[in-house]
Amino acid sequence: MPEEQKKIIFSGIQPTGTFTLGNYIGAVRNWIKLQEEYNCIYSIVDLHAITVKQDPAKLRQHTLEAYALILACGVDPEKSIAFIQSHVKTHAEMNWILACSTQFGELSRMTQFKDKSAKHPDDINAGLFTYPVLMAADILLYKTDLVPVGVDQKQHLELARDVAKRFNQKYGELFTIPEPYIPEIGAKVMSLQDPTKKMSKSDENPNACIFILDDTDTIIRKFKRAVTDSDSEIRYAEGKDGINNLMTIFSAVTGDSFEKIERDFAGKGYGEFKLAVGEAVSEALRPVRENFARLMQDKEYLKKCYSEGAQKALSISQKTLSKAYRKVGFVDFK
Ligand code: TYM
Repeated sequence: MPEEQKKIIFSGIQPTGTFTLGNYIGAVRNWIKLQEEYNCIYSIVDLHAITVKQDPAKLRQHTLEAYALILACGVDPEKSIAFIQSHVKTHAEMNWILACSTQFGELSRMTQFKDKSAKHPDDINAGLFTYPVLMAADILLYKTDLVPVGVDQKQHLELARDVAKRFNQKYGELFTIPEPYIPEIGAKVMSLQDPTKKMSKSDENPNACIFILDDTDTIIRKFKRAVTDSDSEIRYAEGKDGINNLMTIFSAVTGDSFEKIERDFAGKGYGEFKLAVGEAVSEALRPVRENFARLMQDKEYLKKCYSEGAQKALSISQKTLSKAYRKVGFVDFK
């Protein structure tokens, strides 16, 4: 398909430490698959990261690592645009324009804001509150058609759609209304220690979360300790949250259906299944670990990639921003 007819994909990830298996299965893995058919734009969203307290030196390091990680997972900077959000000033500028078309009430309803402000009661800053507006800016600047995310981002995406429609109505058509692209399997990978909760890097229990750079022994150990029910049958069913989660993970990394997993593990115990899941996950992540180690040795290459990515992203997004400025009534200065 000619480049200009391809649909546009945008997605982002925060540079707050190594990605989790949830980030990988719910989002980044799909970013890779979509590169063949779509024009893809991916960003390490460091502006979003400072809505919670960060150590500046660590943020810088984590941002470079996150950039290397998306390449290690398979984002190809020749095929897709991969950049660091703070390098492209249009995001902060569009944020302001869209903030003026977003209601206080709708931001107050965001569950992630409620959760994060409960978690950081001493720092409920305005950035945390307006976070979804910046996310809308990220998406709308590129006339994005599809946004591959895990299910936890769905509410933010709905807000982006509402804001886009409102702007278009107020000022005339400008923004494309984006659709979420949420995987059927693995849209919400759960904690290994409490399978009713999302797997999250901020979990205090180190056994709850697989990081995509964990070594084989660590991965297997964490899966062996995964919380399951008192039954012994490997079967996807209501009330078996732990096993359902392990089956989801196994299916996501091997491509096996739940029926096949149930057949293959009939009569086998949870111990054996947990080991198989651990081994499959470690194997699936092996190339990521190897690519990451190699890429981190070549900072010049990374710099070249993110600098070129930022230039391309700026050139596209500047056009949308200029149109938005014109529509709201700002005076041209060129
Ligand atoms: P972030 O950095 O929290 O997560 C990155 C992606 O990983 C997905 N994800 C999961 N998927 C399945 N199971 C899990 N346990 C799990 N945990 C995380 C998230 O849904 C997300 O897709 N606000 C966004 C970043 C962002 C963005 C954007 C995304 C900023 N601007 C524009 C899309 C478009 C965030 O904090 O993701």
